[in-house]
Amino acid sequence: MHYETLLTETRDRVATITINRPEARNALNARVQSELKSALDEFRREEEIGVVVFTGAGEKSFAAGADITEFRQRKALDVLAANMQQVYDEIEGFEKPTIAAVNGYALGGGCELAMACDIRLASENARFGLPETSLSIIPGAGGTQRLARLVGKGRAIEMILTGRMISAEEAHSFGLVSRVLPQGELMEAAWETAKTILSKGPLATRLAKLAIQTGFETDQRTGLVIEKLAQAVLFDTEDKDEGAAAFLEKRKPNFKGR
Ligand code: COA
Repeated sequence: MHYETLLTETRDRVATITINRPEARNALNARVQSELKSALDEFRREEEIGVVVFTGAGEKSFAAGADITEFRQRKALDVLAANMQQVYDEIEGFEKPTIAAVNGYALGGGCELAMACDIRLASENARFGLPETSLSIIPGAGGTQRLARLVGKGRAIEMILTGRMISAEEAHSFGLVSRVLPQGELMEAAWETAKTILSKGPLATRLAKLAIQTGFETDQRTGLVIEKLAQAVLFDTEDKDEGAAAFLEKRKPNFKGR
């Protein structure tokens, strides 16, 4: 499919979505938002695609948040009808793993997009922040909820109330990103991470993600039930037998997703 504001590419079962408005620091206007939704729908259907990587065009920005030029005409009812929370929820619950390759500013909705992904890798020049209060609004696409869950309530409140941008290193020390890389190595690292995930049992990957993402939203006891049920399902699959056989026969497993 052709998109006006996104570049998409698939290499070896890894799809990359590049937000392509570098002249506006990849700000997420309404068009980007609706195209992100369409790309997710497309990649959900494409069986061949196993992992989705999100990044931004150029070397300065992943995404600098919602497009502020669109704010003036927007009123309460438009915000109520907006679906960015839903789109990011869809990313968090997406059947296939997602990786944010944060290559510069990840502010506001850009930071929220990265936080909705399963894994965050950052280039050394990446900057994270939720600066919405400077505009007298608040993070509205999951930021007030996901940041606290990822970095702790105290740090989240400090970041949101001050609007302070943090460096890639600080984001790493907060646990907001898993790894910091030189910019030139970021996309390869994302791709390598995706390939590693793809070498595992696909049903195990899917159920591990489901158990973690769903379990995180509930109490531990319920989470443990989800984990047990997911594990029970996996123990009745051909891939579980193949995984054990391949290990014992000292060869690579040939998983079939069954
Ligand atoms: N919405 C609309 N346009 C944006 C934008 C946004 N969120 N972020 C950047 N742009 C535009 C700028 O208006 C500028 O446009 P112009 O060239 O027509 O003047 C262009 O992108 C480059 O931005 P500029 O500020 O000159 O680049 P910079 O490298 O000095 O700073 C940022 C980059 C991201 C730090 C800065 O642009 C910024 O703070 N953006 C707003 C971030 C924000 O508040 N996001 C949350 C929105 S809810």
